[in-house]
Amino acid sequence: MLREYLKKMLPSELIRYKQRGKSITILTAWDSLSGSIVEEAGADVVLVGDSLGMVILGHATTLPVTLDQMLHHTQAVGRGFKKPLTKQPLVVCDLPFLSYQCGEDKAVAAAGSLLKNSCAAAVKLEGAEPEVLSVIERLVRMGIPVMGHLGLTPQSVHKLGYRRQAEDKVSQEKIFTQGLQLQNAGCFSLVVEHVPTGVASYLTKELEIPVIGIGAGKNCDGQVRVTADLLGLSSKQPPFSQPIIEGHNLFVKALQEWVEQQHFEGESPTNEASE
Ligand code: KIV
Repeated sequence: MLREYLKKMLPSELIRYKQRGKSITILTAWDSLSGSIVEEAGADVVLVGDSLGMVILGHATTLPVTLDQMLHHTQAVGRGFKKPLTKQPLVVCDLPFLSYQCGEDKAVAAAGSLLKNSCAAAVKLEGAEPEVLSVIERLVRMGIPVMGHLGLTPQSVHKLGYRRQAEDKVSQEKIFTQGLQLQNAGCFSLVVEHVPTGVASYLTKELEIPVIGIGAGKNCDGQVRVTADLLGLSSKQPPFSQPIIEGHNLFVKALQEWVEQQHFEGESPTNEASE
């Protein structure tokens, strides 16, 4: 096991992808089935995102998601991996709402419990307010790698809505400053969600850490997608994340055909005779 850990990629090594110009792919997973699918698909990183609260658990926002739920889902994702440890994707787990906003000690305990009890090797948290920056610095000092998240930050839905962010000069200046602050606080990468292409491009050019976009144009160092959105399974598809297949319709049609076939076979006289 120790030998395998010696060979496993560290979160901080994602910076080499950026230096080499190799695009980083991040897909979300929420259980062993989706974990095995995204691993087999070859994603570099698997994010157990708190979007699972909306996409999988049916909540209207990500706010109700608990730390226990994130742990439960991350453990399931890890059980879905089939490759040897050294070939498995890096797993990042979202710190849910109120697990890091109430002080550094609570944040270290929350993030630590995810790394201690699941396959997560890093955590992601939203925003760059002074309190959040202090939490990130403390987590990084404690050996817990952190991915930042700016732009549309769903845990602040009651402040920001689900709208595109950084549209005016003032908020663009703010996001550039915050990107730099997150890098200085020790984040190994940064997600930027639903911001103008130019804003994401500027951050990508200015920061040393990889910038991962969603609804942020094509010029980032990598892209992250909610797998259920990409597969057309989500009931509320965000406008900036288009599906690549109509998964919901395909599944419904396949299952409808199966249900109809059972009814048909149940009614067939040959079946009755053989019973
Ligand atoms: O929770 C999530 O899935 C996310 C991605 C949208 C980046 O944070």
